[in-house]
Amino acid sequence: MSRLPEATNLVWQTAGVTPEARVQLLRQRPVTLWMTGLSGAGKSTLAFALEKRLIELGHACFVLDGDNVRHGLNADLGFSPEARAENIRRIAEVAKLMNAAGLIVITSFISPYCEDRRTARTLIGPGGFREIHISTTLKNCEQRDPKGLYEKARAGLISEFTGISAPYEAPEEPSLSLDTFELQVEECLERLLGVLQPFLVIPEQSR
Ligand code: ADX
Repeated sequence: MSRLPEATNLVWQTAGVTPEARVQLLRQRPVTLWMTGLSGAGKSTLAFALEKRLIELGHACFVLDGDNVRHGLNADLGFSPEARAENIRRIAEVAKLMNAAGLIVITSFISPYCEDRRTARTLIGPGGFREIHISTTLKNCEQRDPKGLYEKARAGLISEFTGISAPYEAPEEPSLSLDTFELQVEECLERLLGVLQPFLVIPEQSR
C-alpha cells in the first residue's frame, strides 16, 4: 500500500482531564465490543440495536460499521488482505480515540483475519476490548443474502468475497458467540449486556 511521507518532530501533548474524571462524568467505563463475522451474519443489526438499548439506558456509545466507514474514512480501501488489515488498523485507532473520550464503542466489521483482530486488541488494550463472534453459518448467511452479494460473488462478479473466494478465520476464544439464525435479537442483546455489565456499573467515588 502506498503511503504518504511520515511526520517527524512530534511531541505527545498531555491532557489535564484524567480518564477517571471521564468515568465519573459518564458513569461508565469505556470499552470496545468488537463484532466479527461473515457478511449477512447480523453484526450491523445487533450493533445498532445494542447502541439504541444503551442510549435508552443512559450510556454514551457509538457504532463503527463496515459499510458506513468504507463510505468515508476508508473509502480508499478495497478487500485485499493488505487493505483489510489497514481498514481494521484505522478502525481500531478510531475506537481507541472514542474510548479515550469515554465512549462505549461497538464495531461491526467482518475483520476476517485473526492477526488483524489481534492488532486491534493490542492497540486498544486488552482490558477494554471484548471480541464477539457473530457466528451465523455461511449457509445461513448465503441463504439470507440481504444485499445480494453472495449471489454476485458466486457468479464471479465480486472478487475476494469473504466465505466464497476469501477466508474467514473464526475467533478461538471470543467473549461471546451469537448465532443470529438461532437466537432472537432480544436474547442476543441480553447476552451482550451481560458482557458489558462490568463497564456499566461504576461505584460512586468517595470525595
Ligand atoms: S473487512 O473484511 O475489511 O472487515 P468490512 O466489514 O469493512 O470488511 O466490509 C464488509 C462489507 O463490504 C460487507 O458487508 C459487504 O457489504 C461489502 N463488501 C463488498 N465487497 C466485499 C468483499 N469482497 N468481501 C467482503 N465484503 C464485501
